[in-house]
Amino acid sequence: MLKQFVTLVATSCIELLVQSVNAALPDPRWGHASVLVRNNLYIYGGKVGKSRESDLNDTSQNSNQLLVLDVSNSFLVSDPGWISRFVGPKVAYHTLSIGGPQNELLVLYGGEYANSTDEQVLENPLLYYDTLNSSSIWNNANLSVGTPRMSHTAVTKLDDSMNYFFGGIPTVSNSLISSQVQFQDLFKLDTINNLWSIQTTDPNTPSGRFHHTATILSDGKMYVIGGYSKDELVDMSQIYVYDTINARWSFQTASGTLPTARRAHAAAGTHNGKVIIHGGVSMNYDVLYGDVAVLDTTQSQYMWSIEETKGAAPPARYSHTATMVGTNMLIAFGYLTNDVADNNMYALDTTTFTWNENYTPNNLEYTDTMPRSNVSKTPSSSNAGVIAGSTIGVITFFSLIGGLFFLYRKRKRDSFYAAPYSGTEELTSNPDKTKKFSVSSGSTAVEELSRPSMSSGLAVPTTGTSENGAHGKDYTTLLEERMMGSDVQQTNFMIVPKSPLRVTNPDNI
Ligand SMILES: *[C@@H]1O[C@H](CO)[C@@H](O)[C@H](O)[C@H]1NC(C)=O
Ligand SMILES: *[C@@H]1O[C@H](CO)[C@@H](O)[C@H](O)[C@H]1NC(C)=O
Ligand SMILES: *[C@@H]1O[C@H](CO)[C@@H](O)[C@H](O)[C@H]1NC(C)=O
Ligand SMILES: *[C@@H]1O[C@H](CO)[C@@H](O)[C@H](O)[C@H]1NC(C)=O
Ligand SMILES: *[C@@H]1O[C@H](CO)[C@@H](O)[C@H](O)[C@H]1NC(C)=O
Repeated sequence: MLKQFVTLVATSCIELLVQSVNAALPDPRWGHASVLVRNNLYIYGGKVGKSRESDLNDTSQNSNQLLVLDVSNSFLVSDPGWISRFVGPKVAYHTLSIGGPQNELLVLYGGEYANSTDEQVLENPLLYYDTLNSSSIWNNANLSVGTPRMSHTAVTKLDDSMNYFFGGIPTVSNSLISSQVQFQDLFKLDTINNLWSIQTTDPNTPSGRFHHTATILSDGKMYVIGGYSKDELVDMSQIYVYDTINARWSFQTASGTLPTARRAHAAAGTHNGKVIIHGGVSMNYDVLYGDVAVLDTTQSQYMWSIEETKGAAPPARYSHTATMVGTNMLIAFGYLTNDVADNNMYALDTTTFTWNENYTPNNLEYTDTMPRSNVSKTPSSSNAGVIAGSTIGVITFFSLIGGLFFLYRKRKRDSFYAAPYSGTEELTSNPDKTKKFSVSSGSTAVEELSRPSMSSGLAVPTTGTSENGAHGKDYTTLLEERMMGSDVQQTNFMIVPKSPLRVTNPDNI
């Protein structure tokens, strides 16, 4: 009886602590994810704090802040009026997409997880958050969802609430990440029946990649743009398209005025067949972009154009998000220069390509997220209701410092193998995985991440053999062992110069 009473009190306290509060301005961040659900823009997670990779004093931490912004009202972009709560795992370089029969769920997949004693730590989370029930939990999907990954992309086909996840690199808890291993697989998540499957590859499947964007348009096709693949940036003319209706990849070379190749940019789709990209960073993180380019997919040959924008453009950035809200593209946060992230939002009117200080809701029906079955009474020719969740360009700062090697951890080995999947078989709920996030929170403090010691300097492997390889095995062998699920594309080892991060003044670009 007493125990029940205590439990009741404890539960009430938790509910109280997770009450949403108005946040004046959130902490600057990058590597977060965003998605629009009905009239709310949701942003979750990311890296907060200082990242001093160049002097090895990275004190950045993962966030579990959920930021919500009502986009049906006007606001000043300098202070939009975020609602904030802390709920769920602390994660960065993950994706957010939409799911559920009413497209009412936030779907959180993958990402870099924190190493802490905090119980909200999951490797490769696949979690649902019910936006209608403002509940205080992220519900575990209890599915076996592939090798842990980050810097991948996610889109939602709003018609049937299917999610598609593509690419990424392996996640290894708090150790240096190899960006030489790039996932090529495409996963499909049926969010209504909670089923996970891997899609078969076909001859047009793009090579493994990360730091790309994937954007689904109202034709039900997912457009994969840019990023890093096989030791180089993908040329922006190379457009890989996954047709979610026919379950087929295709490829086309775009013409027009090509944007510079880049990674960790952001993209969002318009109601009329265009993908708009913003920002990003060069191969070696020495040039940041702040430009806006448009890929027109409505012509027989895809066409790029670079837009001259009006108004006060945001500073160049990467690892930010772009979300289409009606005809406004909302840019949020991101990494600006060495050691500086942003906590501002920017609104680009995509009909005039004007950056506005005042956001005014326009044509919200274009980005209505209700499933088509619910909006069939208003068959707008302009909106098939499929536009959703463009993805974040994400970046691991481990690669900033050129530490492109695995720190092999025996401890992690089992968990690395522990997420198998096979063929196209649909995996059903796994009742063994019962963890769910009942969130402890209210605590706004984020725990200190334990980082691998770098005191020995930047020990970059030069021969393909990591000095950290366990059991005397070389790097490649270890990788092959880990990646035997055949879901990865392995590329050659690359030597990365030890030069500190240089940031070019974006104004000079
Ligand atoms: C890291 O920060 C500490 C404390 O601020 C400072 O003493 C140290 O010199 C820094 N290390 C480097 C490599 O800059
Ligand atoms: C996690 O952090 C603890 C305490 O800081 C440390 O002992 C442990 O080795 C870390 N584990 C990993 C996988 O980084
Ligand atoms: C909301 O979520 C809580 C916690 O999971 C659950 O107990 C409650 O029944 C849900 N309410 C509705 C209306 O679905
Ligand atoms: C996962 O398992 C937990 C505990 O059994 C359960 O509460 C939760 O609803 C399950 N999630 C789904 C999506 O079925
Ligand atoms: C939307 O469609 C679903 C499934 O057909 C139905 O259960 C639900 O009531 C509908 N919602 C609205 C708001 O019409």
